[in-house]
Amino acid sequence: MLPLAEMACNVLETGDGREKTALSRGYAAAWFAARAEGELPTIGQAQPPLHPARPEKPALLNPRDVPRRRPGSPAGRIALLHAIAHIELNAVDLHWDIIARYTDTKMPAGFYDDWVKAADEESKHFNLLCDCLEANDSFYGDLPAHAGMWRAAEDTVDDLMGRLAVVPMVLEARGLDVTPGMIEIFSKANDVQAVEALNVIYAEEVGHVAYGSKWFHFLCGRHELDPKDVFHSLVRKYFHGALKPPFNEEKRAEAGLPPDFYWPLAEE
Ligand SMILES: [Fe+2]
Ligand SMILES: [Fe+2]
Repeated sequence: MLPLAEMACNVLETGDGREKTALSRGYAAAWFAARAEGELPTIGQAQPPLHPARPEKPALLNPRDVPRRRPGSPAGRIALLHAIAHIELNAVDLHWDIIARYTDTKMPAGFYDDWVKAADEESKHFNLLCDCLEANDSFYGDLPAHAGMWRAAEDTVDDLMGRLAVVPMVLEARGLDVTPGMIEIFSKANDVQAVEALNVIYAEEVGHVAYGSKWFHFLCGRHELDPKDVFHSLVRKYFHGALKPPFNEEKRAEAGLPPDFYWPLAEE
């Protein structure tokens, strides 16, 4: 079995979405098979690319230039599925990137278990959404998508705590806030396949936010830092803009994110 950091780089360097997620799921299965045997495979060291490989399509546009979605129409719902698929593909890379990027920081095996599991789940999410798009005579790459999704990764390339604060604890937590509204849209349209996919995503994303909170608190403990204060200063440093209420306080609590972490960062 390859060292984990090398597996991560191979995923990051694969451009095609379906190929990337197949590789990701295969590596996750190998990792967890070894872990079930009581082994701790080598983590190793590697040089993850600053930008992961991407398929030729979709074209990546400035968010301002991405056509508006009208979720009341079939075309609007396809655009929404496409936008979520794009987020999931970025999430696959974000989780493998956190595995490969910070190997100089000694972390317990559970850190790697969590992010391999999260990467595996994002890969499943991407595939579920591609299936939904294909059931609607579309596909991932059929529409333009947002450029700039990798910004948070670039900004926190030297800062593991910053990465944890901004990616799982801000961006993925935002997913918990907005997913129930999206489930509502597809359920009104009787798109059972999309509702089922989004329910899987909603359930599993709580875990990703929780992994972020767990390892953020772990590192604060290691360095004797106050988690809430450090969270506020890292989000202000690396996240551009205020957090947007309404927040899904119940799911955020389930994921280990208390209100005094996010409310002070919310826009007025
Ligand atoms: Fe996901
Ligand atoms: Fe996630």
